[in-house]
Order: sequence, then structure tokens, then C-alpha cells
Amino acid sequence: MKTFHNKSELTHHIDELKAEGKSIGFVPTMGALHNGHLSLVENGLNDNDFVVVSIFVNPTQFDNQEDLIKYPRTLDADVSLLKIISEHEILVYAPTVNDIYGDNVQSQSFKFDGLENEMEGAFREGHFDGVGTIVKRLFEIVRPDKAYFGEKDFQQLQIVKKLVELYHIPVEVIGCSIHREKDGLAMSSRNTRLTEAHRAVAPFIYKILKSAKTEFGTKSAKKVTEWVEKQFKKQSLLELEYFIIADIETLKPVKRKSTKKTYRAFIAVYAGDIRLIDNIALN
Ligand code: PAF
Repeated sequence: MKTFHNKSELTHHIDELKAEGKSIGFVPTMGALHNGHLSLVENGLNDNDFVVVSIFVNPTQFDNQEDLIKYPRTLDADVSLLKIISEHEILVYAPTVNDIYGDNVQSQSFKFDGLENEMEGAFREGHFDGVGTIVKRLFEIVRPDKAYFGEKDFQQLQIVKKLVELYHIPVEVIGCSIHREKDGLAMSSRNTRLTEAHRAVAPFIYKILKSAKTEFGTKSAKKVTEWVEKQFKKQSLLELEYFIIADIETLKPVKRKSTKKTYRAFIAVYAGDIRLIDNIALN
């Protein structure tokens, strides 16, 4: 398997593949790969001749320096996992911060039609400027035909679709369903940092999301939100940051339900100092 640490070498290799008429799928990651990532890679391999997997912990999307420092970095293990899927059709791009940002580790400022101000955008200052900056840069380097993003970061997925539309980037963005552990916890690289006690209670998040979905069948978004907040007050090891039922197009919280709109419930929870997010389709 070829691993590139340098964008000019990767660009050169991709030029050659493109000249041979090969299609390129792309899975951007921050590493610490789990089965959720691997399923994105498998989707990419089903649709394309080659898949580029980027592994880069992007400093500009972290609003919390401790989270950035402690973010798991497991390149050798990640490469071994990818090799099991395919030795020859996967290219790994694991750049240095300097290869991406040079001396200017700063994000560009974006407006994504207001999508950037909701939920994660409201709670993590500058997060989507950082995500927009790195994804745009990676798209320019990799020039994929299709790119794969998990629905666990549903707001990110919608923002990347908007980025592509606003900047006329010729890539098809494909959202892939959430992968869960057997007990329902959404797969995340951060799960490895949970203490045993927090890991044991974390499936509560998805349990509540499923119940919220049932409740939303007959109750208003406000009532469901109140109910969820009450459930978390009883759970001493988990601290609810937000639970929001939003329209999937605008990501704005629902005021009055409409049968013409599609909704999702979004949640962010602290398990100790580890922040977990999840979401569920409601209708
Ligand atoms: O979802 C992630 O892992 C990151 O936000 C991404 C898309 C790789 C950009 O750094």
C-alpha cells in the first residue's frame, strides 16, 4: 500500500491514475480508524477504481487544545487495517501540518447559508471554518470523483455538500449511514478515550434517541426535548450539552412540525471530558 506524506507526490500519482482513466474515491479521516471508517472505504472501493484515505488531525477545527493534543494518533495501526481491505487500490495520504498549511495554520472564514451557526457551530467556535478549510484543501489535492462522509457528523455532511455547491467543486458527496457498536453506541475515534464507567453508560445516548423518535410520533419537538432533558438529569455520568430536533435542510430547530419536512434529532453529550455526538432520522 502506498502512503504519501507529501502533497506533490500524491498529486503526481493521482495525475497518472487520472491519465489512465481511473476513477478516484476519497475518504477524509482524522485517523484512529474504526469499522465506520472502513465501511466508507468499502463503499468507495465499490464505486471507484482507487480510494484515497487521508489521515490528518486537522488543528484548525479544534476549539479545545486539550482535545487536539489527546486526539488518538495511530497511523501504523490505521495502515494495517486498510491493508486488510485492499493492498493495491487504497492510497493513504498522511500529511504533516506543514504540508497542508505551510507556516499559516489558520482557517478560512466561510458562510454556509447559516448551516454553520447551528448546533456544533454554536457550541464549537470556528469548528466549521476549520472543517471547510481542510476539506476544500483536500479536495483540491485529491481531486476525487466521489467523496464519502459518515452521517454521524450529519451537520458536517450538509456543510460539505454546501461547500461543494458554493465553490463549484466537481465531486459527488455521498453520505453513509452511522455504524454502531453492538450496544448501539455510535462508532467514533473518541470512544477509545472513554473510561470503563463512561463506556458502560454511553449506549444510553442512542437508547434515548430511539425513544425520542417514538415520542416524536405523537408529541411536539418541545415536549420531546423536555422529556430527553429530564432523562439525562437522572444519568449522573453523562452531561447533556444539547438535544435539538431540526429540519435536515436548514438544520434549524423545528418550531412546528410539518409533514412536508424531514427531521432529525441531534445530540451532544459529555462523558467525563469526552464529547460524543449522535443523531437519528425521525421521519
Ligand atoms: O470527520 C472528520 O473526521 C473530520 O472532520 C474531517 C472530515 C476528516 C476533516 O478533518
